[in-house]
Amino acid sequence: MTNIAVAQSGGPTCAINASLVGVFREALKVSEIDAVFGSINGIEGIIDNHLVDIKTIITSNEDMELLRQTPSTVLGSCRYKLPDWNDQPEIYEKIANTLKQRNIGAFFYIGGNDSMDTVNKLSEYFAEIGLDVKVIGIPKTIDNDLCITDHTPGFGSAAKYVATTMHEITRDSIVYSIPSVTVVEIMGRHAGWLTASSAVLHAMGETAPHLIYVPEVSFSLEGFLTDVRQQMSKHKAVIVAVSEGIEVPDGVQSGEVDNFGHKYLSGIGKYLEDVIRKEIGCKVRSIELNVMQRCSSHLASKTDIDEAEAIGAAGVRCALSGKTGKVMVFRRVEDVPYTVVIDSANASQIANNEKFLPKKFINSSGNNIRDFALDYFLPLIQGDINLITEKGIPKHFAIHESVLK
Ligand code: F6P
Repeated sequence: MTNIAVAQSGGPTCAINASLVGVFREALKVSEIDAVFGSINGIEGIIDNHLVDIKTIITSNEDMELLRQTPSTVLGSCRYKLPDWNDQPEIYEKIANTLKQRNIGAFFYIGGNDSMDTVNKLSEYFAEIGLDVKVIGIPKTIDNDLCITDHTPGFGSAAKYVATTMHEITRDSIVYSIPSVTVVEIMGRHAGWLTASSAVLHAMGETAPHLIYVPEVSFSLEGFLTDVRQQMSKHKAVIVAVSEGIEVPDGVQSGEVDNFGHKYLSGIGKYLEDVIRKEIGCKVRSIELNVMQRCSSHLASKTDIDEAEAIGAAGVRCALSGKTGKVMVFRRVEDVPYTVVIDSANASQIANNEKFLPKKFINSSGNNIRDFALDYFLPLIQGDINLITEKGIPKHFAIHESVLK
């Protein structure tokens, strides 16, 4: 009998808790696995020996169903960069001590490309010191920027939220007779996947978003103003989707960085709003979708949530088969009917790398998305979850604050 541990890391999504349910549900089926420990605040919980026995928290099927529909990370999260073990061996010793003390034979880390660096480093360290603990990465990120995997859990739900909100903004913006421009800022860091996914509205016959700017194309303010003026000559209400990660002049963003050196990106929408007001002088608004696009479980994609659970469960089977230093990935077999298989890849190929929007998805003017790319996005946003509500709003599963501190 062995125990396992699971942790959640990086920015929230609608699907990280579903992957936790996947790991937990699968572990319950396996007689060799006894306790399932949840590490509080990602790898920090393993370093500080701050673990909870998940069986004491998730006590029924109803709990699991509620957790599946709860956004963000029930165990807390971190943006912790694990140092190299030669530089700070004491951190690794603490990790090894926690794992040994709790008789943990496998560790599952649900996270993005930075977290997969932890998976990679730990699996190499354990091999070096001869500690038999399997380390498996379960992908997640709304940015959809992990290499090898077709897509990442969390992305589909975020894309569904972005497209739905954009659709509602479109309805709202066309009511008056005066011309207007609405700039919608979308997350995604250096990759334009989420911003590009707003183009699914075109599949419904909408002309909006009329302009889409992604970080994969270099941005010019002059070109932007020309594009906006051109669209204003055709449409009364112009809707612009802009990625938070496009190049902006110094001073637009705060300049603050996280532990991985990633800049906090925010403010491009407001900046473009001001530019349009000054240079074009029409009615203009900017909308930053901000953290709502990561945690809008009321609009979660069933496909996304089901896949997130399935890939968590597959991670457990992967560890049981004796593998370590792997990240679970989706390989798409077909767009229609949508078919994916779950496989694993070496964490070293995924850690710290970024996968960008393919150039072929972007139109020749660099300001919109080609129609054929919608075949990639559409399957990921399909289906709705059976939302459990309380007092008229979606109910969430939460663990007591005192456990998290
Ligand atoms: O996790 C990815 C992401 O959501 C990016 O899209 C965004 O730029 C970043 O996280 C925000 O980071 P934080 O959660 O630290 O504010």
